[in-house]
Amino acid sequence: MKFQVALSALLACSSAVIASPIDSLFKYKSTKTAHSRDINSTLPVWNTTSNTTYANGTNGTNGTSNTSSNNSELQIIVTGGQVPITNSSLTHTNYTRLYNSSSALNITQLYNIARVVNETIQDKSSSGAIVVTNAKSLEAVSFFFSILFDTNKPIVVTEDSAYAIPVANDKGAAKRGVLSVTSDKLVYSGVFTPASTFSYGAGLPVAIVDDQDQVEWFFDASRPTLISSSSVIRKEYNNFTTPFGIFENGAPIVPIVYDGGYSSSLIDSLSSAVQGLVVVSSGSSNSTSSSIASDIIPVVYAEASTPLNFIDKQDVPENAVGAGYLSPVKAQILLSIAAVNGVTSKSALQDIFP
Ligand SMILES: *[C@@H]1O[C@H](CO)[C@@H](O)[C@H](O)[C@H]1NC(C)=O
Ligand SMILES: *[C@@H]1O[C@H](CO)[C@@H](O)[C@H](O)[C@H]1NC(C)=O
Ligand SMILES: *[C@@H]1O[C@H](CO)[C@@H](O)[C@H](O)[C@H]1NC(C)=O
Ligand SMILES: *[C@@H]1O[C@H](CO)[C@@H](O)[C@H](O)[C@H]1NC(C)=O
Ligand SMILES: *[C@@H]1O[C@H](CO)[C@@H](O)[C@H](O)[C@H]1NC(C)=O
Ligand SMILES: *[C@@H]1O[C@H](CO)[C@@H](O)[C@H](O)[C@H]1NC(C)=O
Ligand SMILES: *[C@@H]1O[C@H](CO)[C@@H](O)[C@H](O)[C@H]1NC(C)=O
Ligand SMILES: *[C@@H]1O[C@H](CO)[C@@H](O)[C@H](O)[C@H]1NC(C)=O
Ligand SMILES: *[C@@H]1O[C@H](CO)[C@@H](O)[C@H](O)[C@H]1NC(C)=O
Ligand SMILES: *[C@@H]1O[C@H](CO)[C@@H](O)[C@H](O)[C@H]1NC(C)=O
Ligand SMILES: *[C@@H]1O[C@H](CO)[C@@H](O)[C@H](O)[C@H]1NC(C)=O
Ligand SMILES: *[C@@H]1O[C@H](CO)[C@@H](O)[C@H](O)[C@H]1NC(C)=O
Repeated sequence: MKFQVALSALLACSSAVIASPIDSLFKYKSTKTAHSRDINSTLPVWNTTSNTTYANGTNGTNGTSNTSSNNSELQIIVTGGQVPITNSSLTHTNYTRLYNSSSALNITQLYNIARVVNETIQDKSSSGAIVVTNAKSLEAVSFFFSILFDTNKPIVVTEDSAYAIPVANDKGAAKRGVLSVTSDKLVYSGVFTPASTFSYGAGLPVAIVDDQDQVEWFFDASRPTLISSSSVIRKEYNNFTTPFGIFENGAPIVPIVYDGGYSSSLIDSLSSAVQGLVVVSSGSSNSTSSSIASDIIPVVYAEASTPLNFIDKQDVPENAVGAGYLSPVKAQILLSIAAVNGVTSKSALQDIFP
């Protein structure tokens, strides 16, 4: 009992990956098989014996699209958030509802959505995909997709599909990686999506949608350095773009905790239940002497503040990794993707994190 009380004191920020961290921590082993059963009962299963549907996928439309192109269709995948009442008002759009969640989506759900997005993106007739999600999940979903998808077709994550349709239909949306549109109609690179709409300084917008639904781009198209074609992630970890690891290893548990003075035995007990830990670094102070470190699981320090701050290896304990400019939720997503792909060494994580 004491241990659980201590744990709840330790767990921080609402976590995208685990909605109810305490329960998940202790149920992890037993629910593992249940997840994989869930997954194929509710969603189209990737058919490894048939590859005709996906042949010549991404370069079919060369990443650019305009609404007038004959049979190309914008796929809108709804997981929560705002969608118009009538679908019929829009031609060339196809709505699919996967979830209607108002809480933060977890890693299992993110991978499920990714598989569906991938299928629509691989389909020649689709011009791009929009994923509508709730406000709590926007940052996690758009960062997750930024790492997972390496395509020229636009993938736009939003809370409100009305704002995202002009963006996904705009020729300038191609070759920028995954984009997100916040409810103040600012367009961000998925890598820099702010934690909430009005947390200015947490990310740099790349465009604005005006009242006539025209998209005004601030910059020429390019991808964020973290996922550019010369990045470590794209060059050395091409398995990060496959969604299958999760079925072999179960969903990773990567909680976010506050830094503080915890006993080393608490951290050791935690290490056996989780696959990684994100520690919210305490303010601008130096966390090198923090008590949260582990030889067993990867520990990443991130900062929750706006504007952006940078946590490097000089700021963290010796066997931990600094998340660079990534927020705790983004660090949690990246660490989870790494865990799914069996990448846990400190040196590998140091290369992957900015
Ligand atoms: C899930 O897939 C496996 C293998 O493809 C199959 O044996 C199992 O019956 C499926 N479960 C459900 C609930 O469809
Ligand atoms: C997978 O594709 C093969 C070949 O097209 C087909 O025979 C098989 O029925 C498909 N399986 C499923 C589960 O759709
Ligand atoms: C899938 O693709 C591989 C290689 O491109 C090919 O050898 C195989 O016959 C294809 N399978 C089907 C079912 O089309
Ligand atoms: C894929 O592209 C190649 C070359 O462009 C073409 O020969 C082949 O028929 C295409 N396959 C499909 C399924 O469209
Ligand atoms: C798609 O791209 C691949 C490699 O980038 C190329 O080999 C293939 O011919 C392209 N297919 C079409 C239809 O442009
Ligand atoms: C793709 O776009 C580039 C420039 O945007 C163009 O040069 C190239 O011909 C296009 N390829 C196809 C297959 O449409
Ligand atoms: C769509 O693309 C076609 C061919 O690339 C072009 O002729 C047409 O003007 C474009 N339409 C719009 C609305 O941009
Ligand atoms: C709409 O999307 C769903 C899921 O991707 C797909 O099964 C369906 O065929 C699509 N409908 C149209 C008309 O393309
Ligand atoms: C993710 O959420 C779903 C639905 O709430 C739940 O069934 C599943 O167990 C959760 N998975 C994890 C890993 O927490
Ligand atoms: C998308 O599907 C392709 C197969 O065409 C696969 O190689 C790739 O790993 C998938 N990526 C994701 C993110 O689902
Ligand atoms: C952080 O603190 C440690 C010792 O407390 C010190 O050695 C180190 O230089 C400090 N790092 C920075 C970046 O100030
Ligand atoms: C993914 O790729 C990395 C780097 O190549 C490798 O170390 C890791 O073992 C791979 N993961 C899996 C599950 O194959």
